[in-house]
Amino acid sequence: MKMEGSVALVTGANRGIGRALVERLLEQGSTRVYAAVRNKGELSRVVALDPERVVPLTLDVTDQSAVQAVARQAGDVTLLVNNAGSLALGSILSAPPELIVRDMDTNYYGTLHMVRAFAPVIEANGGGAVVNLLTVVALASMPGLGVYNASKAAAWSMTQSIRADLAGRGIEVFGVFPGAVDTDMIRDFDMPKTSPEEVARAVLDGIEVGEEDIFPDPMSRSVYAGWRADHKAVERQMANS
Ligand SMILES: NC(=O)c1ccc[n+]([C@@H]2O[C@H](COP(=O)([O-])OP(=O)(O)OC[C@H]3O[C@@H](n4cnc5c(N)ncnc54)[C@H](OP(=O)(O)O)[C@@H]3O)[C@@H](O)[C@H]2O)c1
Repeated sequence: MKMEGSVALVTGANRGIGRALVERLLEQGSTRVYAAVRNKGELSRVVALDPERVVPLTLDVTDQSAVQAVARQAGDVTLLVNNAGSLALGSILSAPPELIVRDMDTNYYGTLHMVRAFAPVIEANGGGAVVNLLTVVALASMPGLGVYNASKAAAWSMTQSIRADLAGRGIEVFGVFPGAVDTDMIRDFDMPKTSPEEVARAVLDGIEVGEEDIFPDPMSRSVYAGWRADHKAVERQMANS
């Protein structure tokens, strides 16, 4: 799918990878970019990128009626980018139950609500694409992020299902598996990180060439290569990290 002439909707567009994606979509010729955020007050920098083409929308992806309302408001979308995400730290055995529910609600159910609401919209507009932001630790779980990994692994499974379901409806489905990206989400992690701008560029390039599973940074490409060679070795490595 080409970005030129697309009408995109990006969730979690106010910061991090979401904001970088909006910027890149504008650079690559999207006609309109719906920037969906929980708090429109945090969107002034994003709208200022191009007030003619950036359309702010209020959306909490866990709110099904809000998702339905947004699908009615943004009826010309051809490219849905499910970027909004939350990350709970700590072992899955001891993390507070409300954080387990929050990560599943945001990362799995929120993404699913969006896909179910927007698949008919994209189909009615002649086809397009759905892009789900997953993570490389969906491939092999890092126990210190066990809650988050499980929600993203569920989203990965769903991504594969909808790819098959939507193939006959003119909708391509992409999964993105970033490694460490320099955003608020892992602000306190002391490790090499890729910029959100570089990740955004790799995501859109991947969509344009039809790469279904996108590994957008050096860490994710390295983990994926190791996982393909010996997935148990990567599991053990993650367990000890
Ligand atoms: N950073 C990394 O290293 C990394 C690695 C792999 C994958 N990812 C994935 O990449 C995506 C973007 O992450 P990021 O690094 O840019 O994170 P971030 O800077 O923490 O931004 C997260 C975004 O998601 C939004 N969000 C959270 N819960 C939401 C909800 N219920 N409804 C709507 N929006 C919600 C946040 O909105 P508010 O501002 O309102 O909180 C924010 O805009 C996520 O799916 C994340 O899991 C990130």
